[in-house]
Amino acid sequence: MARIFITGSSDGLGLMAAELLVQQGHVVVLHARNSQRADETQNKLPAAESVVVGDLASIAQTRRVADQVNKLGSFDAVIHNAAAGYREPKRIVTEDGLSHVLALNTIAPYILTALIARPKRIVYLSSALHGDGDASLKDLTWAHRPWSGRQAYSDTKFHDVLLAFAIARRWQGVLSNALEPGWVPTKMGGSSAPDDLDQAHRTQTWLAVSSDPAAQVSGEYFYHMKKRDPLPATRDASIQDQLLDFCSRVTGVGLPS
Ligand SMILES: NC(=O)c1ccc[n+]([C@@H]2O[C@H](COP(=O)([O-])OP(=O)(O)OC[C@H]3O[C@@H](n4cnc5c(N)ncnc54)[C@H](OP(=O)(O)O)[C@@H]3O)[C@@H](O)[C@H]2O)c1
Repeated sequence: MARIFITGSSDGLGLMAAELLVQQGHVVVLHARNSQRADETQNKLPAAESVVVGDLASIAQTRRVADQVNKLGSFDAVIHNAAAGYREPKRIVTEDGLSHVLALNTIAPYILTALIARPKRIVYLSSALHGDGDASLKDLTWAHRPWSGRQAYSDTKFHDVLLAFAIARRWQGVLSNALEPGWVPTKMGGSSAPDDLDQAHRTQTWLAVSSDPAAQVSGEYFYHMKKRDPLPATRDASIQDQLLDFCSRVTGVGLPS
């Protein structure tokens, strides 16, 4: 029996993962962007322990999400699942002056990783599109580049793998991994997405709780419960550290050693 916190679990793969974990007898804490979504989410999965609330596009609200999680006690696993998709038609600027995709997909998982009391396992949702991510980490806020929603998303999914591998390298004793779920028909994936929705939530739950030795590894990248080779630049410790430095500078939140 494990206790798991899942970001962005009001819908899509986050909710599906939560439902599966509850069916397996685990204790799950959900997360929704606001109190109305939280009520709807608790109604969708009444067996969940509770729902934490906060808009992860806001640094202040993300910090409050971490506070709420820590008040609930310790967790065996955290699944960083919430994200914005690849279709934002223009650069949306958050209250912190960041692009919305970067704030939600890169900065929020960084803050939550740094501030939530260290769990035994951490899982980061990436995407096959991370392979198109810009390893130079130039202009992360898109202040100077002409906007491309797809490139911005690919960059942040590359960052999610960097985060997973940086934590695996820095935090001995924590299992930290990333995965791609396939292109599946959720709200983000769109109704014509071609891959198997029934497989898309299973790897993150397996990495979060399974006693299978294949799931008890760290610093790996998965697709459907099998290791897959990520973009080689994700293994570069100097690029990982460059991203951590950027996140620390922008948020004022340091990553505990
Ligand atoms: N679907 C795919 O084909 C696909 C492919 C590759 C990778 N992925 C990855 O899989 C993960 C889950 O994707 P999905 O397809 O399940 O997406 P989804 O259906 O769009 O669900 C996203 C979840 O994140 C929440 N969320 C969005 N913005 C938020 C914000 N500002 N603050 C708090 N919560 C917010 C959503 O809340 P609301 O319900 O309130 O909107 C929802 O619960 C993502 O990391 C994504 O990058 C998905």
